[in-house]
Amino acid sequence: MEPLILNAKTGRCEVTIGASSELIGRYIKGQKVVVITDSTIRKYHEDKFPKAEIIEITAGESSKTFDSIRILYEKFLELEVDRSSLIIGIGGGIICDIAGFVATTYMRGIHLGFIPTTLLAQVDASIGGKNGINLKGYKNLIGTVRQPEFVICDVDFLKTLPKEEITYGLAEVIKQAAIGDANLFDFIESHVDEILSLDKKIMERLIHDSMAVKLSIVELDEKETGERMKLNFGHTIGHAIEKTLGKPHGEAVAIGIVAESKISIAKGLMKKEDSERLQKVLESIGLLVDVQMNKEKIIDAIRKDKKRRGQIIKMPVLEGIGKSRIVEIGLKELEGAVNDLC
Ligand code: GLY
Repeated sequence: MEPLILNAKTGRCEVTIGASSELIGRYIKGQKVVVITDSTIRKYHEDKFPKAEIIEITAGESSKTFDSIRILYEKFLELEVDRSSLIIGIGGGIICDIAGFVATTYMRGIHLGFIPTTLLAQVDASIGGKNGINLKGYKNLIGTVRQPEFVICDVDFLKTLPKEEITYGLAEVIKQAAIGDANLFDFIESHVDEILSLDKKIMERLIHDSMAVKLSIVELDEKETGERMKLNFGHTIGHAIEKTLGKPHGEAVAIGIVAESKISIAKGLMKKEDSERLQKVLESIGLLVDVQMNKEKIIDAIRKDKKRRGQIIKMPVLEGIGKSRIVEIGLKELEGAVNDLC
């Protein structure tokens, strides 16, 4: 498969899909290499790591703090990491966030690449250049946007993931198909069994096409002033559900996708059958089962959304499957969609 290339203002990123232990050789040219990973990934997959110094961090949001970052900077000093060194984050979204942040700030930026090991990180977190750490309960409050030089997606890493991790990643893939690629959406609908059994060829095509949607959006709007907001489809209601019900991100986003598609129908932009297709495909991969919610709490969380400006939230709507645009939605309209859901 040909690499996908992202040419953005903060850097050029080459995305390749295949065996990471072979592909990594393209990017290692005798420089010092430091891998940042977690103990689980190391335990199952160290045989795929390049020859490198390895720094293990605890997997989890609790690692996205200034304290952990300071420890990493100190390790870099100990290891004599310099501007010619290469940092490789091997792990899920949290590893990408942390490795991205330290590599971008240490010595004002050193070489960086990712080998994402969850489906969610492969199709979303590893690409687009966002990184960040948390402060006082605010997620990713401190961070930068800077593209890694390469991302390698190796389907073999997905085999040791719990099944629900795959379905959560698929929620984002379905979102990316819904906002930007009707063919990918058809492909998912007709290959559900192969996808769930992680058929290599099917997964590689799925990851490739899904990333292509995100890369084309990021290339137009790296700093999220317009086009990139499309990637938030399903996330306004999804985040509110995640926050109030403590549902996992992927599960909450799946519910958000269906709920927000109803807004597109109400606006006359999308047919009811398209929203039903979304619902059906999410159900077929095991999401959206038993949706029971407290609407007052969800509406309250939407009112606290940082994207809100007065009575308006700027968010994406679908114009059918595979096409989207950003519009301003009144809070009342959004609340109507939540009422329909509960
Ligand atoms: N995950 C959404 C974005 O990268 O913009």
